Amino acid sequence: MEKTKCEEFGVLSLVGSRYLEVTKFIKYSMEKLNLDETFWSERYLSGQTGWDIGYVSTPLKEYIDQLSNKELKILIPGGGNSYEAEYLFNKGFKNVFVIDISSIPLKNISKRVPSFPNENLLHQNFFELEETFDLILEQTFFCAQDPNHREKYVSKMHQLLKPKGNWSACFSIFP
Ligand SMILES: C[S@@+](CC[C@H](N)C(=O)[O-])C[C@H]1O[C@@H](n2cnc3c(N)ncnc32)[C@H](O)[C@@H]1O
Repeated sequence: MEKTKCEEFGVLSLVGSRYLEVTKFIKYSMEKLNLDETFWSERYLSGQTGWDIGYVSTPLKEYIDQLSNKELKILIPGGGNSYEAEYLFNKGFKNVFVIDISSIPLKNISKRVPSFPNENLLHQNFFELEETFDLILEQTFFCAQDPNHREKYVSKMHQLLKPKGNWSACFSIFP
């Protein structure tokens, strides 16, 4: 039997209000957490890394595949195990930097790709980085930040980009 417009509207508003409730709950929980080095390192140590897909993310791979200038200075913020850095490095991009607040995934990169320069693995808080880049590629970093820091995040990204620099990202805006 065909649903009436009224029933359809009822279902949609129920789904919509559930979505808002869940979003509010996650935002509230993230604000309560101290998303510092200890928090992230504990996630790596306990293997609670559901975000880690284990390979270069498809949208970023496609973006990387159309780049021809191997001299680009590239930053991967909140890179974690950064399969993107490994992919870039193996394709001949040697000016690639990964920054992460936890040293654990950076050590994993060194183990996986021993020739990756150690000085390009930055164990540092993204918000304290003072350099500029031609390209910033990120995979699920924005959504790992306290939602109250989003404006700070945007101005930091802007500050880290050279004039005419590019930023390409893959993340959710949930919450
Ligand atoms: C959701 S994980 C994503 C990791 C990786 N990009 C991936 O997709 O597998 C977020 C990463 O950001 C790092 N991180 C969180 N806050 C940071 C900050 N302020 N500065 C640098 N790294 C940070 C965490 O340690 C973690 O590795």
